[in-house]
Amino acid sequence: MIPITKPYFNDREIEAVKAVIKSGWVVQGQKVKEFETKITQFTGAKYAIATSSCTSALHSSLVALGIGPGDEVIVPAFTFAASANVVEHQGAKSVFVDIDPRTFNIDPLKVERAITKKTKAIMPVHLFGLSADMGKIMKIARRYKLFVVEDAACALGTKYNGKHVGMFGDTGCFSFHPRKPISTAEGGMIITNSKKLAQKLISLRDHGAVISDLARHKKSAFKLADHDLAGFNYRMTDIQGAIGVEQMKKLPFILKERRKRAEIYSKALKNNPCFSIPFTPQYSNHTYQSYVLKVKDESSLSRDKVAEKLIKNGISLRPGTQSVPHLSYYRRKYGYKNSDFPESFMVENQTLTLPLFVEMTKKEQEFVIKNLNNLCAA
Ligand SMILES: Cc1ncc(COP(=O)(O)O)c(C=O)c1O
Repeated sequence: MIPITKPYFNDREIEAVKAVIKSGWVVQGQKVKEFETKITQFTGAKYAIATSSCTSALHSSLVALGIGPGDEVIVPAFTFAASANVVEHQGAKSVFVDIDPRTFNIDPLKVERAITKKTKAIMPVHLFGLSADMGKIMKIARRYKLFVVEDAACALGTKYNGKHVGMFGDTGCFSFHPRKPISTAEGGMIITNSKKLAQKLISLRDHGAVISDLARHKKSAFKLADHDLAGFNYRMTDIQGAIGVEQMKKLPFILKERRKRAEIYSKALKNNPCFSIPFTPQYSNHTYQSYVLKVKDESSLSRDKVAEKLIKNGISLRPGTQSVPHLSYYRRKYGYKNSDFPESFMVENQTLTLPLFVEMTKKEQEFVIKNLNNLCAA
């Protein structure tokens, strides 16, 4: 079976993990700090705060910004459930906005129409490694004095007009789940330029403690920390931090190799009458966290049938992502129907993520392309 993706790990990660285990300090410490420094250097952000996942990064961002019951947060309809779930965790309302079906990202024209007196924040998602239209979104956010939390789970390496995503909003949150270009198994990162927010986020990820475990052990391990907030355990371990440091060293190579393979797909499939290839607007580069095809309306193919046939031939495939308002929880709570958010509903049923990973061979990729072409020709 050709996998949908595969983290690019080798002996470097294994040796790095061994060293952490041998050191006896496995929870958040020096290695996490090193990983955070690499992220600030790569993105240009002033502060980076590692977390246990992107979900915890998004959640603590909302907590730090004071989002709570009675507030509304604007979220794209087509994203992973986590983007909206964290709003729900805060007792706030996720207000979904439909997407631009060409980019799969939130449609800025529709954002403004969704703003009410209760709106506190916008959460643009840079889906599949393509930046949302941050110029337009930030203009709206400034006009209505809204916070912006960027869900950049899929977008390490993605830039909007040359500036790294996550640098536009109050915070930007990344994921290191194995479906992402670099992985620490599970893991996340928040970037921000605000010292005040950074301090709050550092405390929130560690139960609200005013001093970290490592700092406490360096001083006097006896006295426990004071807690100034009711925080969480959203910490990253040093085992993950050590993997992150090694992954960051490989990141430019990983991004280059992924782009190379994405371009091979695009060249081979751009004239295929059954599928449309990913669209890249001028303002963004595409880092292809996922290479997502759309089965064209005019082709008589059903996306699910295509997937079924290719999977039978040994090729792993996935839909693009989820139309979140159409998931059971959101349908039940807000009464959404199939006719709501039509673009999101449509692309959920038309998209197909192809296998893409650094170690994918030429032969494997040719096999995927041949299968898609044969299916279309038939
Ligand atoms: C758009 C988006 N947001 C948030 C997340 C959550 O990331 P994590 O699994 O690190 O919590 C994901 C993960 O797939 C995602 O794709």
